[in-house]
Amino acid sequence: MSRHSSVSANSTVIVGAQWGDEGKGKIVDCLCEKNDLVARYQGGANAGHTVVVGDKKFKLHLLPSGVIREKRSLIGAGVVLDILALREEIAQVEKAGLKITPKVLGIDYRAPLLLPTHKILDGIQEESKAASKIGTTKQGIGPAYSDLAARTALMFSDTLAVDWEARFGRALSGHETILEKLYSRKLSAAERAVCTEYCKAAPAYAKFAADASAESSNAIAAGKPVLFEGAQGALLDNSFGTYPFVTSSHPIAGGACTGVGVSPRCISKIEGVAKAYCTRVGAGAFPSELTDKLGDSIRGRGAEFGTTTGRPRRVGWFDAVALRYSSRLNGFTGLHITKLDVLGGLDELMICDAYEANGKQTRDYPANPADFAGAKPVYKRFAGFEDLGADGWKKVAVDGEKKGLAALPQNALLFVQKISELSGVPIVSVSVGPERESIIFAKD
Ligand code: IMP
Repeated sequence: MSRHSSVSANSTVIVGAQWGDEGKGKIVDCLCEKNDLVARYQGGANAGHTVVVGDKKFKLHLLPSGVIREKRSLIGAGVVLDILALREEIAQVEKAGLKITPKVLGIDYRAPLLLPTHKILDGIQEESKAASKIGTTKQGIGPAYSDLAARTALMFSDTLAVDWEARFGRALSGHETILEKLYSRKLSAAERAVCTEYCKAAPAYAKFAADASAESSNAIAAGKPVLFEGAQGALLDNSFGTYPFVTSSHPIAGGACTGVGVSPRCISKIEGVAKAYCTRVGAGAFPSELTDKLGDSIRGRGAEFGTTTGRPRRVGWFDAVALRYSSRLNGFTGLHITKLDVLGGLDELMICDAYEANGKQTRDYPANPADFAGAKPVYKRFAGFEDLGADGWKKVAVDGEKKGLAALPQNALLFVQKISELSGVPIVSVSVGPERESIIFAKD
């Protein structure tokens, strides 16, 4: 028997339970205090994880959130790696006082490279879709994963090869052919300069090369606690999300295995992160969307603007139908509810507990995307709770250290309990502010 097959795993996958932007960065930051290793398993610089520490705000896109606590942080083979985006991000976090050394950061040899031409292709493909645009982040995600599936991608390992420049040149000319033949488009001098810059910059990152699969598996086999960090959310999954309005990777928990290279037997806990309401960026159906003044008000109070693109996020009520589906796909062992404080001060709160689709009510998420697209929300209504203001919520969080969730105002607690009951998942924590400390963990 190999040492990896008799594992008593102590690992947790952190998954976005909705459409992304649920606050996974903060949760990973809180949990990684007790974990030895953090491994990011999918997505690319389309992700935006914001972590607030004291008066500093870290905006991470590619770096696993573990870097903030200087934990060993791995970028797995499931992540598409934009070297220039990584360079910029490292410069930014180093300016804010962190040091990204090879002791902290490891990048799997097998991570596919996302090239500047993938971004150009992403932009052109979106523009060519006219009315059916997906609303991508234009970070090149779809074209980079397409190259991986087509077996034409460059890997991080290619940057270590003696003939790296030639390999890069071949990939670039492949993309130029597509641009010219399909879109009658030539690279501008400025775009060509960015490509040259990418090619020159890449070898400097060789010092981060790692085997994330072996490191994570060995850490788990040694009984060490490991966190797998997802990006985006389950409803943006390439296969099980609201296709085609999805991303091109697998944010669901199974993606941790294929994206880092660990056995499903290595996973012991799977925790979903969900806002107390819903948001979505980009196009696609959103049954519980609020397109009125209330939606605008929640957007403003929750600062619901994209970390990567700055786009205003669409806002809606908590969707328990979608959450039950997400829980089925992921097998959540627990749920972290974020941004509960944002709903403070509203007289009435709602949870969508069923859809009306094709003249019928259903509590189950439709498998046919066409049924989801036409679904109307059926709500349960709840009494609101007071807005305690930033200081009031901080006090609640301090009380929560002793009392657990009982520290919440009564109607806030009832709302969270309803979310848990209607979603069928126990609550692990509730966040009541952006700071690291503004979190209350449920008592066992
Ligand atoms: P892409 O991942 O850039 O290709 O975009 C595909 C869809 O996923 C679009 O609707 C994006 O707005 C959405 N998306 C991608 N990354 C994120 C994220 O980190 N948070 C929320 N939505 C995202």
